Amino acid sequence: MASLYERLGGLDAITAVVDSFSARCAGDNRINGKFARTDIPRLQKMLVDQVCEATGGPCTYSGRGMRETHDGMGVTAGEFDALVEDLVTTLDGFEVPKAEQDELLGLLGPMRADIVEVESSETGTPLPETYQAAPALT
Ligand code: HEM
Repeated sequence: MASLYERLGGLDAITAVVDSFSARCAGDNRINGKFARTDIPRLQKMLVDQVCEATGGPCTYSGRGMRETHDGMGVTAGEFDALVEDLVTTLDGFEVPKAEQDELLGLLGPMRADIVEVESSETGTPLPETYQAAPALT
């Protein structure tokens, strides 16, 4: 069977999904406070590389690990679920079939343990002042 990367439509399709997903997250008050100090071009590149590599594409993710990245961010379970919901809405908008969506979510799901720090359904919690954002891409 073709790789998930190919079935999603390759790099152009993944880039378009990440762009649309970022815009949706930016407009979602349940989670957008966390991105207050984020360099968005860096985040978008990192997400494209991560999804491309994880789905069997020809990319190499060069960002920080998921635990290190989200450490001290205070992400709640409710915020994690909100982000996944935004991703599913985005994938539905691109008419990605459910089988491919489930496969992609199956790759991301195990990362939850490294991302969620607060097992609460609360959303819209602020980014702690102490969180060190990654440097912008040069
Ligand atoms: C499976 C789910 C998730 C994945 C795969 C993921 C992936 C990533 C990746 C690849 C980066 C870039 C790392 C780097 O620049 O070195 C990142 C950064 C970030 N993530 Fe996540 N993430 C997820 C869930 C979340 C959730 C639920 C939140 C909060 C609601 C969140 C908030 C952030 C923020 C704010 C940054 C930017 C950090 C900075 O400013 O340096 N992420 N994430």
